[in-house]
Amino acid sequence: MFDTMTLTKATGAVCGSLLVFLFANWAAESLYNTAPSSHGGEEAAQAYTIDTGAAEGGEATADAGPSFEEVFAAADPAAGEKVFGKCKACHKIDGANATGPHLNGVVGRNHAAIADFAYSDAMKGKASEVWTPDVLNTFLTSPKAAVPGTKMTFAGLPKAEDRANLIAYLATLK
Ligand code: HEC
Repeated sequence: MFDTMTLTKATGAVCGSLLVFLFANWAAESLYNTAPSSHGGEEAAQAYTIDTGAAEGGEATADAGPSFEEVFAAADPAAGEKVFGKCKACHKIDGANATGPHLNGVVGRNHAAIADFAYSDAMKGKASEVWTPDVLNTFLTSPKAAVPGTKMTFAGLPKAEDRANLIAYLATLK
């Protein structure tokens, strides 16, 4: 049988580890417990608020900046000529078509209006619509989203200012 000493040691060991376990449990709880009202019913204070851009109690708007009309009113054609560098690989402005149709007089022109250019069916389907600055703005934000099925493989210009400047420049091309 066990003598008293062994029994005492064994009991001590069990109690000791239980204590350690309890203590660890308590420490973990106080460290990680984030549930509100666990400590005397007080609400857990929010350490910080992440600004998601959503208006209080309202819908998040895609573009909270100034309207396109406002940006366009202050557009700079000279700056737009630089942005046009992104279009040059596919679009000429000397009346000749390339990968894309020429863009002479495109502002105010109907969609798919260049007779000798092979437009996509998607673009031809919009032939009755006019390229106003507003429509161009939507198209140049994301060609694929504005005209699903378009042949224009260009991701789009994310900056409203770039689009406005570019459209102001396009409007100077006769
Ligand atoms: C990778 C080549 C490519 C690039 C880069 C490109 N385009 Fe295009 N673009 C095309 C093609 C191809 C079409 C014809 C689309 C169709 O038929 O669906 C087109 C069509 C258009 C049209 C419609 C013209 C019409 O006659 O209906 C406009 C406007 C236009 N592009 C403007 C731009 C502008 C502005 C840029 C620069 C920001 C640009 N594109 C960049 C290839 C390109």
